[in-house]
Amino acid sequence: MTIRHHRGRYEIRRFDLDELQQQLASEPWVITDENVAAAYRGAKTELVLKPGEETKSFPSYQHLVEQLASLSVRRSHRLVAFGGGVIGDLVGFAAATYLRGIPFVQVPTTLLAMVDSSVGGKVGVDLPLGKNLVGAFHPPSEVWLCHELLATLPDRQVRNGMAEVWKYAYIMDADLADQLDAAIPTQASMLSETLVDRCIAHKRDVVQADEFETNGLRAILNFGHTIGHAIEQVLGYQELLHGEAIAIGMVFEARLGELLGFTEAGTAAIIEDQLLRQGLPTDWEGFQNPEPLLQAMFRDKKVVGNALAFSLVPKIGACKLVTDVPVAAVREVISR
Ligand SMILES: NC(=O)c1ccc[n+]([C@@H]2O[C@H](COP(=O)([O-])OP(=O)(O)OC[C@H]3O[C@@H](n4cnc5c(N)ncnc54)[C@H](O)[C@@H]3O)[C@@H](O)[C@H]2O)c1
Ligand SMILES: [Zn+2]
Repeated sequence: MTIRHHRGRYEIRRFDLDELQQQLASEPWVITDENVAAAYRGAKTELVLKPGEETKSFPSYQHLVEQLASLSVRRSHRLVAFGGGVIGDLVGFAAATYLRGIPFVQVPTTLLAMVDSSVGGKVGVDLPLGKNLVGAFHPPSEVWLCHELLATLPDRQVRNGMAEVWKYAYIMDADLADQLDAAIPTQASMLSETLVDRCIAHKRDVVQADEFETNGLRAILNFGHTIGHAIEQVLGYQELLHGEAIAIGMVFEARLGELLGFTEAGTAAIIEDQLLRQGLPTDWEGFQNPEPLLQAMFRDKKVVGNALAFSLVPKIGACKLVTDVPVAAVREVISR
């Protein structure tokens, strides 16, 4: 599969595990985290970082680029991000900025990274004030997909990635929603290459239509994310995984859409039922105190003036960015 972007294009290439290990062995700058390094001891890695969202931060970014400098990594070299979205975003941001930009390869090892973060060129780090507040558009030079890597993924991480898979179904693929509904993959062994490819194709279509998030098209990928990101931020990126937070976000943003008369009645209940059966959370006790959450939403990148913007689904399989959502409606939905 080919992804086009402002500076050209990149290929998504499939490898089996043996081929991938050989490919990695010929790369001098493979960067990963401790869990991936432990699961794939045979794979050659150069720098091994701590796992977890805290690694997607300024301190570890600084540490990483200092290491690159001390190892004399040059502009002609390329970094290989071998890991989940945290490693992909961090290494991608290092690649975007170190020496004013060097190439990098994404080797996604989680379902979430395969279907979402490794495609689209967004890289960056979190600030204590919010997620992804510093970053760049720096497309990878290649993405290497190896389905076998999913075999070692814990079930919770499978469900986490499935939240983004359901998101594609809700925003643009009603047929996928029906298929998933009939057979929900809850373990890595139940995930097919076809499913992963179908999601990547959706992400490709959206990012090619709006690479820099300027015409509102790419914003549809944020369904569930305005509330989800706010939850993650209030929790200090602890307790809930990204997919878990957006699962809650999708249910409540569907309810918000219903309250506004934008979303077909009954949609939120269907989404809630499906995500519950997926084993994802659909409610959060923090809603009892909505003010910190609302404040977090006002720091969202989509905020224009005093109105809140949400990517809402009119029905399952379609999505549109709605600006001018009254704060009162949001407060009502989350404090119900
Ligand atoms: N750039 C984008 O467009 C984009 C899109 C979506 C999400 N993201 C970002 O991605 C991050 C989340 O990514 P994630 O869910 O992949 O999290 P992650 O990178 O933290 O990986 C999840 C956990 O699984 C472990 N792991 C990874 N691969 C494994 C494997 N094959 N076997 C066993 N364990 C493995 C990791 O060590 C980690 O503990 C968030 O920071 C989010 O903001 C970015
Ligand atoms: Zn997401």
